[in-house]
Amino acid sequence: MRRTTRARLTALAVTPVLALGAGSAVHGQHSQTSEPAETTEPAEGTELAGGAGTCIPEGGIEAKDNYLIGMSQANKGEPWRQAMNDQIAAAAEEHPELEVVFADAAQDNAQQVADVENFLAQGIDLLIISPNEAAPLTDVVADACAQGVPVIVLDRKVDGDQFTMFIGADNVEIGRQAGVHAAEYCATGGFDQCNVIEIRGLEGSTPAQERGDGFREGLAENPAATIIASQNADWLREKAIPVSQAMFQANPDVNVVYTHNDPMTEAAIISAESAGLNLDDMLFIGIDALPTPDGGIQSVIDGRIDATYVYPTGGVQAIDFAVQILEDGVVPPDSVTLETQEVTADNAQEVMDSFTGGSPATESTGAEATETTGGDAMGTTPDVSETTEG
Ligand code: FRU
Repeated sequence: MRRTTRARLTALAVTPVLALGAGSAVHGQHSQTSEPAETTEPAEGTELAGGAGTCIPEGGIEAKDNYLIGMSQANKGEPWRQAMNDQIAAAAEEHPELEVVFADAAQDNAQQVADVENFLAQGIDLLIISPNEAAPLTDVVADACAQGVPVIVLDRKVDGDQFTMFIGADNVEIGRQAGVHAAEYCATGGFDQCNVIEIRGLEGSTPAQERGDGFREGLAENPAATIIASQNADWLREKAIPVSQAMFQANPDVNVVYTHNDPMTEAAIISAESAGLNLDDMLFIGIDALPTPDGGIQSVIDGRIDATYVYPTGGVQAIDFAVQILEDGVVPPDSVTLETQEVTADNAQEVMDSFTGGSPATESTGAEATETTGGDAMGTTPDVSETTEG
């Protein structure tokens, strides 16, 4: 742990951070205020960074006219990750002094290591990274840190504590809420035995582990609910199709399908339909709830997915903190937990409207959206996230 002594560096005890949905626009973000969040214990499973100011050089950040930020994305081929990039780009547009360079690792750990090394060679002032898997990316993040480059880790974690801060939602809690939802469905249905199948995200990525663990915790509320099969589809819709087909073939009597993200839920729905199963007798649960025409909220409105959970990308917050770290000498909290929200048929339209301001959902979730719709058209959710003191 290093704490810089420069007077302009101020430890940030609590910062109000708006919980933005994955597709939220960023206009006006910096002018929006809310009650300060309470300082809380870190979310379960959250590895804290190595102490306030980790990776920030001893004398503070050198003041400059322009700053270069490297954004290392795990896999841009997924809609939720494109939304994250779009939000980062749009948020950075509000700061002409910032240039953000993006790299897409296409779900390849070695590529992502090379991407970060390349950024370091370019002389980035700050690194934002959403790591594909935790262990393989840990060392290169620590290298950046050792070079005095502040690191903001987004959504998925790395091991250890050599980074400046983590921003993301609490995946154990999301999984737990999904588990409780499934347990209650099984109880309401009066099942003596309620068969649950799980389709998991990439095993070395922390949300997969956390969403699985939390789900088991929540599901335990109903002893009749049993996970009869669990398979990995690496977060990918195209992998989840054959995986779910095989699962339904082996287990035709399924009551609940829990998948770690909405694209894999949609895949499971397609497989269940083609296996001739009665979808009305099954509960489908996903996670992400993107407010786009192909996203999870619309799927709930259309009666396909039964429940999903808003999983904010944190892109806007990452730029907000990058500016504070680079330009305002702020020492950020170690961890910022973004709010989630359960989306079911009861509130799906309302949640969609809170993102779109009542306009039809568009594919644009970030930079493009701000050009075409402007203002607050994509809206924000009202909740304030919790922060932990650095
Ligand atoms: C995209 C994604 C999201 C998921 C997140 C977890 O790569 O799979 O769907 O919520 O990553 O890190």
